[in-house]
Amino acid sequence: MRALVVYHSKSGNTKKAAEDISEELERFVHVDMEAIVVNRYNPFLLGTLRAFKDMFSDERFPLVGLTYDPLKYEFIIIGTPVWGNSCTPPIDSYLSELQDFSYRVGFFTTQSGQPTFDAVKEMEKTSGMEADVKLAIRKGDIGNAEYFNDIKIFVSDLLGIDHHID
Ligand SMILES: Cc1cc2nc3c(=O)[nH]c(=O)nc-3n(C[C@H](O)[C@H](O)[C@H](O)COP(=O)(O)O)c2cc1C
Repeated sequence: MRALVVYHSKSGNTKKAAEDISEELERFVHVDMEAIVVNRYNPFLLGTLRAFKDMFSDERFPLVGLTYDPLKYEFIIIGTPVWGNSCTPPIDSYLSELQDFSYRVGFFTTQSGQPTFDAVKEMEKTSGMEADVKLAIRKGDIGNAEYFNDIKIFVSDLLGIDHHID
C-alpha cells in the first residue's frame, strides 16, 4: 500500500505537519512526499505581499516539476496553509487537476487562528472529492501532545485501522 503526501508551505508550519503525518503513516505504508515549491511566495516581504495579493485572485497557475503521479497511490493526503479561509493558490491548482479516482483522501490545514474546516470545504469543492478524513491544525499547537494524538487519529482513520494511541 502506498500513500502520497502533497503539501505547500510558505513558512514551514504545513511542512512540519506533513512530515509528522508522513512519519506516522510510514509505520504502516510506503510514503512519498510531494512538496509544491513556489518561489513566488519567498519568505521575504515581497513573497508575503504576493501571497496576500493572490489570495484575492481566482487565477490558477500551472504547476511544474511535480515528481509523483497520484494515480499510483491508494491514499492521498493534501496539506495547505489557510490563506483567507481557503487553501493556497498552488494547492487550489493541484486539486483542480487531480483526477477523481478511488483512493482514500485526507485533507489537512494549518492556520494561525482558531481552526475551522472552511478551507477543507473549499478543497472538496475544487477537487470534487469528499475528504475521508480531515484535520485543521492551529499553528500554535504544532508539536504538542494533542497535535500528535490528532495526527494518529487522522492516520488511523485514513488507513481504516484501529487507533494506536500510546
Ligand atoms: C497570505 C496569508 C493569509 C493568511 N490567512 C489566514 C486566515 O485566513 N486565517 C488564519 O487563521 N491564518 C491565516 N494565515 C496564517 C497561516 O495560515 C498560518 O501561519 C499557516 O500555519 C502558515 O503555514 P506555512 O508555515 O506552512 O506557510 C495567513 C497567512 C498568509 C501568509
